[in-house]
Amino acid sequence: MISQDFLNAIATEHGLSKGELEVLSLAMEGQSTAAIANRLGISGDAVRKRLSEVYQKFQIAGRGPVKLTKLQQLLVNRYQTYRETPNTESERRGESQVSNPKTQNRIDWGEAPDVSVFYGRTDELATLKRWIVKERCRLVALLGMSGMGKTALSVKLAKQLQGEFEFVIWRSLRQAPSVQDLLASLIQFLSEQSETVLPKTVNNRVSLLIDFFREHRCLVILDSAESILRTGELAGVYQEGYEGYGDLFKRLGQEPHKSCLLLTSQEKVGEISLLEGETSPVRSLKLGGLGDAAQAILKEKGLSGEKNWGHLIQGYRGNPLMLKLIAITIKEVFDGNVTDFLSTTLFTSDISDFIEDILDRLSDLEEKILFYIASQKEPVVFGKLQKSFSEVSPQYLMGALGSLRQRSLVEKSEGGFILPPAVTEVVAQLVSDLEG
Ligand SMILES: Nc1ncnc2c1ncn2[C@@H]1O[C@H](COP(=O)(O)OP(=O)(O)OP(=O)(O)O)[C@@H](O)[C@H]1O
Ligand SMILES: [Mg+2]
Repeated sequence: MISQDFLNAIATEHGLSKGELEVLSLAMEGQSTAAIANRLGISGDAVRKRLSEVYQKFQIAGRGPVKLTKLQQLLVNRYQTYRETPNTESERRGESQVSNPKTQNRIDWGEAPDVSVFYGRTDELATLKRWIVKERCRLVALLGMSGMGKTALSVKLAKQLQGEFEFVIWRSLRQAPSVQDLLASLIQFLSEQSETVLPKTVNNRVSLLIDFFREHRCLVILDSAESILRTGELAGVYQEGYEGYGDLFKRLGQEPHKSCLLLTSQEKVGEISLLEGETSPVRSLKLGGLGDAAQAILKEKGLSGEKNWGHLIQGYRGNPLMLKLIAITIKEVFDGNVTDFLSTTLFTSDISDFIEDILDRLSDLEEKILFYIASQKEPVVFGKLQKSFSEVSPQYLMGALGSLRQRSLVEKSEGGFILPPAVTEVVAQLVSDLEG
């Protein structure tokens, strides 16, 4: 699927050794560790060691199979960009491409993934379009749990809206660029490389960006904003040195201009909470599950046992990435039969790796609350939580609970707070690992 030429080029770009490139090429063909070891005549541990070097060089975090999925996704996306921009060297690097010359707009898709396979989300697309086009919102946040489809939706939306804008820029914050660097690259693109001397301070760079935003109608998408936020704290706190992003968001939300910044993030940042409102030009949309449209994912993967699909989708709260991960196992182990799979369990090691990655972002108190709710047979009301956490002030407890709800790890049912089934299973497994 991915050409060896492309893999060679990207291996050089990321400084991979020959041995690492060999392992990467075979892993991209979907070969298991054992098969790769056999083919290269080395041990499974040596394969894992080389792969872990590769993950590091591509700055891919997380555990086990999720890392490989992430790497594959990254390479497939980059390959797509590479193939779509064959003309000049700079275009090949995915830097900028003039698209749709009829309307003279300039578009930079950066590393935006391909969204030709995309199901549902008609309501969400309609809402976002209304906010951005009709109601001229200046700052919009698209929030939701990892894997829910924020990135995919942001690209789909931008593709549908590109005709409305003079400039469209899609950027990932996954590598956590400094705000100075990000602003520099936006300004360079918007000024068509004519701003050669950039102001030094963040504040002055933001002012310059806002000048462009006043003069031209621009749509800028910043994807994966959680990458500039801290782990181990309540949701939405900037990493040290990244506070400048807060000023950028605040000024883009407050100062008049005719453009829009769309942010996707697993966590909501404070500036958005403060400025958002039904009539304000700052809004946020929390992305829920894919609903019935998720059936198309199961169909595409060739699963059977259709009468139980609804149960499977509900068990994973319609999260498309979790459904894709689980579909692979169901296909391999149960010949695609969802009914057989559901009679055993709801979760697999892929899912547990995926959820553990999400849990890695939690603060200590959030983690304790999550484990407590998981240990209870009944939904937990706030009063009960307060009694069990009597050493913690109610304000602090409320903050942590709010943060967990924002992360979609805790849900509110009629009887009190509960966890989504997949989270309960993973937490229970972690507890039994700890005790065992
Ligand atoms: N509407 C959709 N139709 C089909 N596939 C989808 C849809 N939305 C998302 N997906 C697929 O689900 C996976 C996860 O989606 P995506 O990467 O957009 O999630 P995300 O919310 O951005 O996650 P993260 O917070 O980890 O970045 C991808 O493989 C994507 O192609
Ligand atoms: Mg994403």
